[in-house]
Amino acid sequence: MSAQDTGHQGAEIARRTERRWATLSVIIIVAMAVIAAIAGIHRATMPQARVETTDPSRLHLSGEFVESNLGSVLESNGAVTVRAIGQQYSFTPACLLVPAETPITLRATSADVVHGILIQGTNINTMLVPGYVSEQLMRFERTGDYLMPCQEFCSFGHEGMWGKVRVIDKAKFAELAKSSGRLSCVGQ
Ligand code: CUA
Repeated sequence: MSAQDTGHQGAEIARRTERRWATLSVIIIVAMAVIAAIAGIHRATMPQARVETTDPSRLHLSGEFVESNLGSVLESNGAVTVRAIGQQYSFTPACLLVPAETPITLRATSADVVHGILIQGTNINTMLVPGYVSEQLMRFERTGDYLMPCQEFCSFGHEGMWGKVRVIDKAKFAELAKSSGRLSCVGQ
Protein backbone atom coordinates (compact mmCIF):
# COMPACT_ATOMS: atom_id res chain seq x y z
CA MET A 1 0.00 0.00 0.00
CA SER A 2 1.46 3.38 -1.01
CA ALA A 3 1.54 6.47 1.23
CA GLN A 4 -0.98 8.09 -1.09
CA ASP A 5 -3.46 5.22 -0.58
CA THR A 6 -3.11 5.45 3.23
CA GLY A 7 -3.87 9.20 3.11
CA HIS A 8 -6.89 8.61 0.89
CA GLN A 9 -8.23 5.97 3.29
CA GLY A 10 -7.78 8.32 6.28
CA ALA A 11 -9.74 11.06 4.56
CA GLU A 12 -12.53 8.56 3.81
CA ILE A 13 -12.73 7.45 7.47
CA ALA A 14 -12.82 11.09 8.65
CA ARG A 15 -15.61 11.90 6.21
CA ARG A 16 -17.69 8.90 7.34
CA THR A 17 -17.17 9.73 11.03
CA GLU A 18 -18.13 13.35 10.47
CA ARG A 19 -21.29 12.37 8.63
CA ARG A 20 -22.24 9.92 11.37
CA TRP A 21 -21.97 12.58 14.11
CA ALA A 22 -23.78 15.18 12.02
CA THR A 23 -26.66 12.73 11.51
CA LEU A 24 -26.76 11.96 15.23
CA SER A 25 -26.95 15.65 16.19
CA VAL A 26 -29.77 16.25 13.68
CA ILE A 27 -31.66 13.27 15.18
CA ILE A 28 -31.23 14.73 18.69
CA ILE A 29 -32.52 18.17 17.58
CA VAL A 30 -35.54 16.65 15.79
CA ALA A 31 -36.32 14.43 18.81
CA MET A 32 -36.21 17.46 21.15
CA ALA A 33 -38.51 19.45 18.85
CA VAL A 34 -40.99 16.52 18.71
CA ILE A 35 -40.95 16.14 22.53
CA ALA A 36 -41.53 19.92 22.99
CA ALA A 37 -44.40 19.88 20.48
CA ILE A 38 -46.09 16.87 22.11
CA ALA A 39 -45.74 18.35 25.60
CA GLY A 40 -47.08 21.74 24.42
CA ILE A 41 -50.07 20.28 22.58
CA HIS A 42 -50.86 17.96 25.49
CA ARG A 43 -50.86 20.86 27.99
CA ALA A 44 -52.92 23.07 25.71
CA THR A 45 -55.58 20.44 25.16
CA MET A 46 -55.84 18.92 28.65
CA PRO A 47 -57.70 20.68 31.48
CA GLN A 48 -55.51 22.03 34.27
CA ALA A 49 -55.04 19.70 37.20
CA ARG A 50 -56.70 22.06 39.71
CA VAL A 51 -59.50 23.45 37.56
CA GLU A 52 -62.75 24.08 39.45
CA THR A 53 -66.06 23.87 37.66
CA THR A 54 -69.56 25.20 38.35
CA ASP A 55 -72.92 24.86 36.62
CA PRO A 56 -73.74 28.38 35.35
CA SER A 57 -77.46 27.59 35.06
CA ARG A 58 -77.67 26.67 38.77
CA LEU A 59 -75.49 29.37 40.37
CA HIS A 60 -78.50 31.12 41.95
CA LEU A 61 -80.01 27.90 43.30
CA SER A 62 -77.30 26.25 45.38
CA GLY A 63 -73.61 26.10 46.10
CA GLU A 64 -70.86 28.62 46.65
CA PHE A 65 -72.23 31.34 44.35
CA VAL A 66 -75.82 31.70 45.65
CA GLU A 67 -76.66 35.38 46.14
CA SER A 68 -76.55 35.23 49.96
CA ASN A 69 -72.94 33.97 49.80
CA LEU A 70 -71.66 36.70 47.46
CA GLY A 71 -69.50 39.49 48.88
CA SER A 72 -66.61 39.56 51.34
CA VAL A 73 -66.09 37.36 54.37
CA LEU A 74 -63.38 37.54 57.03
CA GLU A 75 -61.94 34.05 57.54
CA SER A 76 -60.81 32.75 60.93
CA ASN A 77 -57.14 33.07 59.86
CA GLY A 78 -57.54 36.81 59.21
CA ALA A 79 -57.59 36.51 55.43
CA VAL A 80 -60.56 37.63 53.36
CA THR A 81 -62.46 35.75 50.66
CA VAL A 82 -64.53 37.68 48.13
CA ARG A 83 -67.07 35.88 45.98
CA ALA A 84 -68.61 37.53 42.94
CA ILE A 85 -70.33 36.71 39.70
CA GLY A 86 -70.44 38.52 36.38
CA GLN A 87 -73.51 38.52 34.17
CA GLN A 88 -74.72 40.63 31.24
CA TYR A 89 -74.19 43.49 32.19
CA SER A 90 -73.16 43.83 35.80
CA PHE A 91 -71.15 42.33 38.61
CA THR A 92 -72.74 41.02 41.80
CA PRO A 93 -71.89 42.62 44.14
CA ALA A 94 -71.38 45.75 42.05
CA CYS A 95 -69.09 47.18 44.72
CA LEU A 96 -66.56 44.88 46.43
CA LEU A 97 -65.63 45.91 49.97
CA VAL A 98 -62.21 44.76 51.16
CA PRO A 99 -59.71 45.69 53.88
CA ALA A 100 -56.26 47.16 53.24
CA GLU A 101 -53.06 45.25 54.14
CA THR A 102 -54.81 41.87 54.08
CA PRO A 103 -54.39 38.82 51.84
CA ILE A 104 -57.57 38.56 49.77
CA THR A 105 -58.76 35.68 47.62
CA LEU A 106 -61.20 36.63 44.88
CA ARG A 107 -63.33 33.74 43.67
CA ALA A 108 -65.59 34.55 40.77
CA THR A 109 -67.46 33.03 37.87
CA SER A 110 -69.88 33.97 35.12
CA ALA A 111 -73.59 33.24 34.91
CA ASP A 112 -73.78 33.55 31.12
CA VAL A 113 -70.98 34.50 28.70
CA VAL A 114 -67.26 35.24 29.11
CA HIS A 115 -66.59 38.42 31.09
CA GLY A 116 -63.41 39.81 32.61
CA ILE A 117 -62.55 41.51 35.87
CA LEU A 118 -59.86 44.16 35.80
CA ILE A 119 -59.06 46.37 38.78
CA GLN A 120 -57.69 49.65 37.54
CA GLY A 121 -54.26 50.71 38.74
CA THR A 122 -53.35 47.14 39.77
CA ASN A 123 -52.19 44.01 37.96
CA ILE A 124 -55.39 42.20 38.93
CA ASN A 125 -57.00 40.95 35.77
CA THR A 126 -58.84 37.67 35.28
CA MET A 127 -61.37 36.17 32.90
CA LEU A 128 -64.75 34.94 34.12
CA VAL A 129 -65.64 31.89 32.08
CA PRO A 130 -69.07 30.27 32.51
CA GLY A 131 -68.64 26.83 34.04
CA TYR A 132 -65.30 27.61 35.71
CA VAL A 133 -64.21 29.31 38.93
CA SER A 134 -61.54 32.00 38.54
CA GLU A 135 -59.40 32.46 41.62
CA GLN A 136 -57.14 35.47 42.03
CA LEU A 137 -55.01 36.46 45.02
CA MET A 138 -54.82 40.18 45.74
CA ARG A 139 -53.70 42.66 48.35
CA PHE A 140 -54.18 46.42 48.65
CA GLU A 141 -51.76 48.50 50.69
CA ARG A 142 -53.82 51.72 50.63
CA THR A 143 -57.46 52.54 51.19
CA GLY A 144 -59.47 54.05 48.35
CA ASP A 145 -61.83 53.33 45.48
CA TYR A 146 -60.80 51.45 42.35
CA LEU A 147 -62.79 51.10 39.15
CA MET A 148 -63.47 47.54 38.04
CA PRO A 149 -64.57 47.42 34.40
CA CYS A 150 -65.44 44.27 32.48
CA GLN A 151 -62.45 43.80 30.19
CA GLU A 152 -63.91 41.20 27.82
CA PHE A 153 -66.40 42.11 25.10
CA CYS A 154 -69.61 40.41 26.24
CA SER A 155 -72.15 41.84 23.75
CA PHE A 156 -74.00 45.14 23.33
CA GLY A 157 -74.00 46.27 26.95
CA HIS A 158 -70.31 45.55 27.51
CA GLU A 159 -69.18 49.18 27.78
CA GLY A 160 -71.72 49.77 30.55
CA MET A 161 -70.50 46.85 32.67
CA TRP A 162 -68.57 48.46 35.51
CA GLY A 163 -68.01 47.57 39.11
CA LYS A 164 -66.02 49.13 41.91
CA VAL A 165 -63.64 47.98 44.64
CA ARG A 166 -63.59 49.94 47.89
CA VAL A 167 -60.57 49.34 50.12
CA ILE A 168 -61.19 50.38 53.71
CA ASP A 169 -59.17 50.41 56.90
CA LYS A 170 -58.42 46.93 58.24
CA ALA A 171 -59.84 47.60 61.73
CA LYS A 172 -62.99 49.14 60.29
CA PHE A 173 -63.50 46.08 58.10
CA ALA A 174 -63.03 43.76 61.11
CA GLU A 175 -65.68 45.79 62.96
CA LEU A 176 -68.15 45.47 60.07
CA ALA A 177 -67.38 41.75 59.76
CA LYS A 178 -68.63 41.12 63.30
CA SER A 179 -72.17 41.26 62.00
CA SER A 180 -72.70 37.98 60.22
CA GLY A 181 -73.38 37.93 56.53
CA ARG A 182 -71.41 38.95 53.52
CA LEU A 183 -70.01 42.45 53.16
CA SER A 184 -70.19 44.70 50.12
CA CYS A 185 -70.41 48.45 49.48
CA VAL A 186 -73.47 48.31 47.24
CA GLY A 187 -75.70 51.33 47.92
CA GLN A 188 -73.04 53.12 49.99
CU1 CUA B 1 -69.06 41.75 30.65
CU2 CUA B 1 -67.89 42.88 28.96
